Amino acid sequence: MSLGLKKLSSLLFIVASATAYTWPNPQLDELESLVYDQHGFNSRGILAGALDPCSRFNFGDTVNRSNVADWIRTAYHDMATHNVADGTGGLDASIQYEQDRAENAGNGFFNSLRHLTLGITRYAGVADFIALGAKTAIEQCGGPKVPFRGGRVDAKVPNSPGVPEPQQDLESHIAAFARQGFTQTEMISLIACGHSFGGVQHSAFPDTVPLPDGVDDVSQTFDSTPFNFDNAIAFEYVHGTTNNPLVVGHNDTTNSDKRIFGSDGNATMASFAASPDLFKSTCGTLFARMLDTVPKEVQLTEVIEPLPVKPQSVLLTYMGDGTLHLSGQVRFWDTAESSSRSAKIVWADRAGQTNSSYADVLSTNANMVAFALNDGNFSSVWYNIGPAATNFSILDESAGISKFWFEVDEGDGSGVRTEDQDGVGFALQDALMLADSSCQTTSATLSSIATIDIAVRADVSPSRVYLEYDLFNTDSSGGSFNSVNTTDAQPATGRKVAASGYNIWTVQFPGSALATSLPRTVNIAANVGDAKIATASFTPFTRLKQC
Ligand code: HEM
Ligand SMILES: *[C@@H]1O[C@H](CO)[C@@H](O)[C@H](O)[C@H]1NC(C)=O
Ligand SMILES: *[C@@H]1O[C@H](CO)[C@@H](O)[C@H](O)[C@H]1NC(C)=O
Ligand SMILES: *[C@@H]1O[C@H](CO)[C@@H](O)[C@H](O)[C@H]1NC(C)=O
Ligand SMILES: *[C@@H]1O[C@H](CO)[C@@H](O)[C@H](O)[C@H]1NC(C)=O
Ligand SMILES: *[C@@H]1O[C@H](CO)[C@@H](O)[C@H](O)[C@H]1NC(C)=O
Ligand SMILES: *[C@@H]1O[C@H](CO)[C@@H](O)[C@H](O)[C@H]1NC(C)=O
Ligand SMILES: *[C@@H]1O[C@H](CO)[C@@H](O)[C@H](O)[C@H]1NC(C)=O
Repeated sequence: MSLGLKKLSSLLFIVASATAYTWPNPQLDELESLVYDQHGFNSRGILAGALDPCSRFNFGDTVNRSNVADWIRTAYHDMATHNVADGTGGLDASIQYEQDRAENAGNGFFNSLRHLTLGITRYAGVADFIALGAKTAIEQCGGPKVPFRGGRVDAKVPNSPGVPEPQQDLESHIAAFARQGFTQTEMISLIACGHSFGGVQHSAFPDTVPLPDGVDDVSQTFDSTPFNFDNAIAFEYVHGTTNNPLVVGHNDTTNSDKRIFGSDGNATMASFAASPDLFKSTCGTLFARMLDTVPKEVQLTEVIEPLPVKPQSVLLTYMGDGTLHLSGQVRFWDTAESSSRSAKIVWADRAGQTNSSYADVLSTNANMVAFALNDGNFSSVWYNIGPAATNFSILDESAGISKFWFEVDEGDGSGVRTEDQDGVGFALQDALMLADSSCQTTSATLSSIATIDIAVRADVSPSRVYLEYDLFNTDSSGGSFNSVNTTDAQPATGRKVAASGYNIWTVQFPGSALATSLPRTVNIAANVGDAKIATASFTPFTRLKQC
């Protein structure tokens, strides 16, 4: 009986974990975009852009170095301080404070962090970006799909040391991996997986890699394909053709890969050399475990699966003329463009009712195609809400909106398909929104001032209406962190539009508040009783008209 229940619940768990979450969920929406909006329309450049091509290296001209290899090594070294016995350490961005240690020789961590921290937000901190960087590098450059969970918490101080070093003996390495939570076989495998990329630099390990004449630095690669995941690391080792500096190095003391790979009589490496598929699937599992090794108090999110139909940047604008404009986009994941498809958005009013006039077209064009590489090449197509001539739909202000959904006709005779998250719909609040009277003094510069008018539904009595925006900060030890800063709005007395169901609040927002280069985003929020309501974010210094 108890066995049966256990079986049933693990079965249910598998089914549930494969199900995408329900939109909107700001944290999961953001993580999902970072994982799946990689190339083309609406893509996030930070991750995939820096890996295109996989040989790309942003920080100098040393041949055979790459962002890909640096990002994967950074994730391992950050994780490698984990202690399974007491649950301390793990992938928590403590590497930010550990770079002066001998066990973290080389400038790959500095390079990686300098780039990856550019993307941090309130929903994904440095540790999530380290994990995302490694995951994306592995997937973009020929490796297995690495299931991704978010929610890592950034450490504020260094962890206890514990990254393995090449001159240590086999027993130390077995013990270090056991402390991190990996068996000897898993140690052999994970090192082979990691050392499928990159190599050893002379500047970081001068005793291991000699400097040839005429160059400032050199990286001696672990295998003949340093920018791509494949089993060459194992094939070349087993067939005696390897140039891996940790196998054939002139000083046997630092030949750690040789000791480790041979420690089971070459059984694991031979199996990888014989089977690219086995190597790939083993690495997919172990990389995911590496990235999900976190301090014990950290609760990671579910695995981020792509939403089949995903709205993005859905915003209402209060027009003051009895209408609201609904703008935004929707992505149809793993879907090809098709001229025979017609798609529309349908909505329910504030009271939850729909009628035949609560619908509008979705429009797309040839530029609105995207793709993502996740152990397969997935094409997606984006649509704008509303006709192409405007990119918005017009709603009746007095009717409002509570949720929307999509109706899609592929034009192939199969009829109309409803995309409504299994009947739940896509919820949208109409109590708080940007007002069309908002404007900015000059075009997007740090000295421009935005006047952001906010429409608040008259039956809502907020205790506070404010703008929220993410700022990038560094602490005194050089660690990066995000802060969510706010600026309060005030009621714009005398600016209630006659006969409108909305009151106007207003706030002046200087371009300099966003501190770095424009455009950056803000969102509107309000506290109503114990609840907080918020809009999607928008870029004030591109979206607003001039005053
Ligand atoms: C006993 C364990 C390990 C030892 C002793 C070791 C040692 C080294 C050394 C000495 C380098 C050269 C670094 C440089 O020149 O900047 C290196 C590079 C690298 N390691 Fe490991 N490693 C180990 C485990 C791992 C693991 C488990 C992974 C990932 C799963 C990994 C991923 C990498 C990558 C991707 C590079 C290339 C970096 C680049 O080209 O910039 N290593 N490793
Ligand atoms: C870069 O790596 C490849 C593959 O190992 C190797 O053939 C080539 O000689 C390396 N280049 C330099 C300048 O070391
Ligand atoms: C070999 O490497 C070890 C560890 O870095 C070092 O202590 C030793 O001096 C080296 N031996 C030679 C001959 O270079
Ligand atoms: C393991 O493979 C290496 C490299 O091909 C070889 O030198 C070594 O002798 C092998 N060890 C065993 C126990 O077969
Ligand atoms: C549908 O909505 C429109 C706009 O709000 C309204 O004028 C019309 O009376 C509604 N029709 C029905 C049948 O409810
Ligand atoms: C993936 O598909 C896109 C769009 O269909 C295409 O542009 C791209 O070259 C493909 N990439 C790979 C690696 O196959
Ligand atoms: C509508 O959006 C598309 C794609 O984002 C863009 O190319 C087009 O210029 C927009 N049209 C208007 C009228 O803003
Ligand atoms: C933003 O918020 C952080 C944390 O609350 C605070 O330390 C910082 O001074 C604020 N920055 C600005 C520009 O308001």
